[in-house]
Amino acid sequence: MQHTHPGATIKGFGLGLRTDHYRDFVERKPAVDWLEIISENYMVPGGKPLHFLDTIRRDYPMVMHGVSLSIGSTDPLNTDYLRELKALIARVQPGWVSDHICWTGVDHHNLHDLLPMPYTEASLRHLVGRIGQVQEFLGRRILLENVSSYVTYAADEMAEWEFVAELARRADCELLFDVNNVYVSARNHGFDPRVYVDAMPVGRVRQIHLAGHEDHGDFVIDTHDHPVRDEVWELYRYTIARMGAMPTMIERDDDIPPLDELIAELAQARLVADAALREAA
Ligand SMILES: [Fe+2]
Repeated sequence: MQHTHPGATIKGFGLGLRTDHYRDFVERKPAVDWLEIISENYMVPGGKPLHFLDTIRRDYPMVMHGVSLSIGSTDPLNTDYLRELKALIARVQPGWVSDHICWTGVDHHNLHDLLPMPYTEASLRHLVGRIGQVQEFLGRRILLENVSSYVTYAADEMAEWEFVAELARRADCELLFDVNNVYVSARNHGFDPRVYVDAMPVGRVRQIHLAGHEDHGDFVIDTHDHPVRDEVWELYRYTIARMGAMPTMIERDDDIPPLDELIAELAQARLVADAALREAA
């Protein structure tokens, strides 16, 4: 089937919409190019979140980011979830819809964690079939995001970057490239994160996430409660130099600072991206 590309209008630098900032967006309408919403926060009947969503949507283009698709699980796809997701898509008219390359539970237990897949041919086939079902049901391509990991599976047959690139090609989906997650996994598993960036099929990456993490020396935890760190800015610069201009947003999920701090961090993202593009030109 033909999948549409309504995301062509989303450009520049965005932020994740968080409850703490609802009033700022309604009252001050700060200059942010677009907003990413967490889909599940609005899959509720009525109330305050939907009121703010509709109000803020009038002023900002939006994209949708989910955490519960569990595309990698062996449980059947949750059709109730997909129906609600489709209804929210109709309401928000997002540039695109994303979730993660992971599984969040099995046997109907949600582990509330984004667990990595074993990087095998069997899981590729498993994912490709399920992504096809989801894209067919929604009538559009979805974006899937690389997750950070702390462990690897003994069964792995390929590197994570080979898996992700092959998945996007075979499933005909798109990618949300999380630079911080690549950095975190690279540190935890001891690979060069630039190899990961180089392996990405550029035409399939539609969005970039930047976030902060906790550095414990021997290992790094993807916490989303700190500003973006220097090593991640450097990897972002490398990524933009290779991929070109790419819609980018900063993800902050905990210890949410005043909106102006995030807007300042977003200005830094613009500077880094501009420098990378000049360097690549
Ligand atoms: Fe992310």
